[in-house]
Amino acid sequence: MERLDKIVASMTGGSRKDARGMVLRGRVSVNGKVSGNIAQKVDPKTDDISVDGQSLTYKKYVYIMINKPKGILSASNDKSRETVVDLVKPDFPRDGLFPVGRLDKDTTGLLIITDDGDFGHKVISPKSLIEKEYLVTLDKPITAEDIKVLEAGVTLADGTVCRPAKVRQTEREKVVSMTITEGKYHEIKRMLGVVGIGVNELERIRIGSLCKDDKLDVGQYRELTEEDLSLVWK
Ligand code: URA
Repeated sequence: MERLDKIVASMTGGSRKDARGMVLRGRVSVNGKVSGNIAQKVDPKTDDISVDGQSLTYKKYVYIMINKPKGILSASNDKSRETVVDLVKPDFPRDGLFPVGRLDKDTTGLLIITDDGDFGHKVISPKSLIEKEYLVTLDKPITAEDIKVLEAGVTLADGTVCRPAKVRQTEREKVVSMTITEGKYHEIKRMLGVVGIGVNELERIRIGSLCKDDKLDVGQYRELTEEDLSLVWK
């Protein structure tokens, strides 16, 4: 059971403030009765919740994109540290939310959070061959020879073999775009380590054909549309 304002926000995709306004103005009914009580406990799976007489349908799963800030853990919950799921929870009060793949604590950018386990597994499975593109700020310029090595696929010090990456020099001297199709632990940082380059900043900007929404400031998030979801697989 959850508070009505939380549930209305989650089901309409709006903010908690908007949801409270709707409830307080008598626009929200629970099982046919106008509520007016933002703290009323409801079960979105079994209670019929309507706004202006229109029944809200319960979504089985939610898919959220967040522009992950630095310093936040890519995890569902942690005893002492704040996680990406903690950031979206106020607007998406659901159990079972998790980040699809992990970005390092100091990595920023595009991260999907969902409660759809099958979707999450497919996106991170190396078998799916979904591209993940990163903008990487290096501690020194990269050479054409380094790029050749990374594009051939490197073997890390511990024997892990990385698939070939696509590396593109941007117009900024120490910034490259790197695209990989797997998500091994610290993969970008360790691959660059092989050619003796350190990473100062790392930002994920694309998953499949789904690009980071430039309208989302760091720390902001929004629900994915059907079209966004289809772009993940293209
Ligand atoms: N590779 C890394 O090294 N770190 C990330 O967060 C993502 C990819």
